[in-house]
Amino acid sequence: MRKKMIGLFAAVLFVVGGVQAQENTIEVLPKPEKITKFQDEIVLSGETAVYLDPKAGLNQEYITEVLTEAGFQPVYVTKAKKAAIVFQLNEVPSLGNDEAYGLYVKAPGNRREQIVAKADTRFGLLYALQTLRQLTSVGPDGVTVPACIISDKPAFPWRAYMQDESRHFQGAETVKNLLDEMARLKMNTFHWHLVDDQGWRIEIKKYPLLTEVGSKRDFDHMDLTPQQWDSLFPYRTYYTQDEIREIVQYADDRGIKVIPEIEVPGHASASIVAYPWIGSSSKREGKPVHGDLYDVTDPKVEEFLHDILDEVVELFPSKIVHIGGDEANYTHWQNSPEIVAFMKENNLPTCSDLQVWAINRMSKYLASKGCRMIGWNEITGDNVRGEAHVQASQSEKLAPGTIVQFWDGDISLVNKAIEKGYDVVNSNRFFTYLDYPYEVTPLEKAYSFNPIPDGLAEEDKVKILGTGCQMWGEYTPNLDRLYYQVFPRIAAYAECGWTSADRRYYEDFRKRFRKIENIWKEKGYLKTQLDKY
Ligand code: ACM
Repeated sequence: MRKKMIGLFAAVLFVVGGVQAQENTIEVLPKPEKITKFQDEIVLSGETAVYLDPKAGLNQEYITEVLTEAGFQPVYVTKAKKAAIVFQLNEVPSLGNDEAYGLYVKAPGNRREQIVAKADTRFGLLYALQTLRQLTSVGPDGVTVPACIISDKPAFPWRAYMQDESRHFQGAETVKNLLDEMARLKMNTFHWHLVDDQGWRIEIKKYPLLTEVGSKRDFDHMDLTPQQWDSLFPYRTYYTQDEIREIVQYADDRGIKVIPEIEVPGHASASIVAYPWIGSSSKREGKPVHGDLYDVTDPKVEEFLHDILDEVVELFPSKIVHIGGDEANYTHWQNSPEIVAFMKENNLPTCSDLQVWAINRMSKYLASKGCRMIGWNEITGDNVRGEAHVQASQSEKLAPGTIVQFWDGDISLVNKAIEKGYDVVNSNRFFTYLDYPYEVTPLEKAYSFNPIPDGLAEEDKVKILGTGCQMWGEYTPNLDRLYYQVFPRIAAYAECGWTSADRRYYEDFRKRFRKIENIWKEKGYLKTQLDKY
């Protein structure tokens, strides 16, 4: 009975709306801002002429890859009017958002049988491509695309996925697969956690032991000598600078910027094992001490960190560097008479003040090189874990433009960071940590995440740049395990970043997810029945 009523309603809608029909027959994820569907379609078979606006700088090889997956056989032409699929920049930017796009499939008014993507930037055109790829169905007559107009833009400019490669090294092929899926989901920021206690994964030419020693360990193998490691793992477990450049380019071709993370002052054991003199307890004891902090009061250590940042900044055109800053175990500073004396001399009453002092200097150094700094929310010096003694008292501010990535502590710390003038990326661990088991963060809970905390003042909402989801690597030693944690939740996080919370419904998301679900099953990323997530 109910079904019949709906059928009748749809028919009425069709008559009343003329050529306009229901929007929900087009299933795109993340959900676009506006879809207008018409009772018509384009069917393209054989070779399909494609025009790429030369000013857009699109990578033709990547466009070919996506269009081929969508069922087309693209051949490229140099005149838009000769093409069946057109990617065209607006002559005058008019969309008010660098990532916005319009996709017009056999739109009324266009006399040609065309699919036209329009945007102000290359990024918008890439998102139009990702949407088009989800619209096609392939049959014996060719590729069918429903006639429609889609106008779309993201709710947030920062839509990140973080991969921890310190705890377990995944390697370039896996990173590229992840970048491909991020691009499919219109995520635009790859946060690359390249160093931590369990391994240093980026070549730094000035300090070769960082990789010769610091890369020869992981979460499951912390106490091997480099020789023992080499006999167990006779391949490289770090990226050369050339490999980094290649991956950064690969990401850029897909519209993704790469943000490297170099942790200071803690999570630094992998560099301290290579150069013990940079660690506070390690220098005193003359041997590497696990969990140690950099001795940030030693100008030679600061120079060491600047040298590293100099090389890092050159490799990543995003000009944003993540400085870590989380979970520093201050006992390593408290146990050092020199560091305690330095704090007294410099009027730094708590170790948290010392951390803020050191991170301030880092933020200013990065700013002097034209870079923005981002760090976990401990960088503000606020009391994150309810321990009064770690609240910094001093009022020195981080460099303007610093981004605070909220992950832990009371949600009011987001407001506090905004009050201090910082932009915030909301990576609340209770919603966005991909290493958490599905029992703790099931797909529906992941999907329910709103990067804007409840009650945030209207004028402060623009300070929330967006969200990241974090794949910490302690318990993902192999690909099956990694993909199990990431897929399908990454789709939920992508939509949390792209579509405003007031337009999101879980059941509707699940319906729109079906096409991507099948692709991920075919690729072997999704192995478990979806209702088990
Ligand atoms: C973190 O999870 N320690 C940022």
